[in-house]
Amino acid sequence: MGAVMTGGSLLSTKVPPQIAAYKNAARVYNYVIEPLLWGMRRAVSECAQAMPGMTALDVCGGTGAQAFLFSQSGALAVAADMSPHMLCKARGRAHENLKFVLASADRLPFESGIFDLVSMSLALHEIPEKLRLSFTGEMQRVARPGGRIVIMDYALPLKASLAALPCRSACWLAERAAGGAHYRNYRDWMARDALRGFAARAGLNGQFHVYYGGAMNVLVAQPGGS
Ligand SMILES: C[S@@+](CC[C@H](N)C(=O)[O-])C[C@H]1O[C@@H](n2cnc3c(N)ncnc32)[C@H](O)[C@@H]1O
Repeated sequence: MGAVMTGGSLLSTKVPPQIAAYKNAARVYNYVIEPLLWGMRRAVSECAQAMPGMTALDVCGGTGAQAFLFSQSGALAVAADMSPHMLCKARGRAHENLKFVLASADRLPFESGIFDLVSMSLALHEIPEKLRLSFTGEMQRVARPGGRIVIMDYALPLKASLAALPCRSACWLAERAAGGAHYRNYRDWMARDALRGFAARAGLNGQFHVYYGGAMNVLVAQPGGS
């Protein structure tokens, strides 16, 4: 298993520049971003159906909010993220069933097939396509056959929808402000039919749950694409 977070020493871990950029985001994430995501956290939890006896992994788990909800449902939950600064902000979410692991999502430090539930929220849209495919490949590898993969990310409404406009505008503003490669990857994601398009390219077959007029989707899929 990767470094399990126990102390402040993780902050001295060397990380690539795109991850170092999360140092600033980590300072405000729990106060500014997290309250806006509360509805989607609940939606992911409902789709994930975490329960006692289950093992759950939240990949790119950030400040640990989703994994914390899984642990509150009784699952043994792990949040894995490559940003030590994001993980350190997860410290306030102590729960006996919850662990935090510093790890890259394209090389998860877990054996194959050990998690009943593997989730990822709001990470795929901001990375290049090749990395998206390797992240979801790893999610499939560590999920047990018959388990559940749950992915939440930006989506495109199936038909023009005024209800989607506020959420789409807010997301666009946030991504535009992030700029650089982050914004380029977001544009690529949206131009290629967002989560539905990616699921088709990655062979992730499952059910799409639609939120905010179609601006957000949660995909519930089975490992192996069945
Ligand atoms: C927009 S944040 C989303 C965090 C969290 N999933 C949420 O819903 O709030 C994206 C997260 O992906 C993480 N991340 C980016 N690249 C990663 C990688 N290669 N391996 C693990 N985590 C990564 C970042 O550190 C950050 O915490």
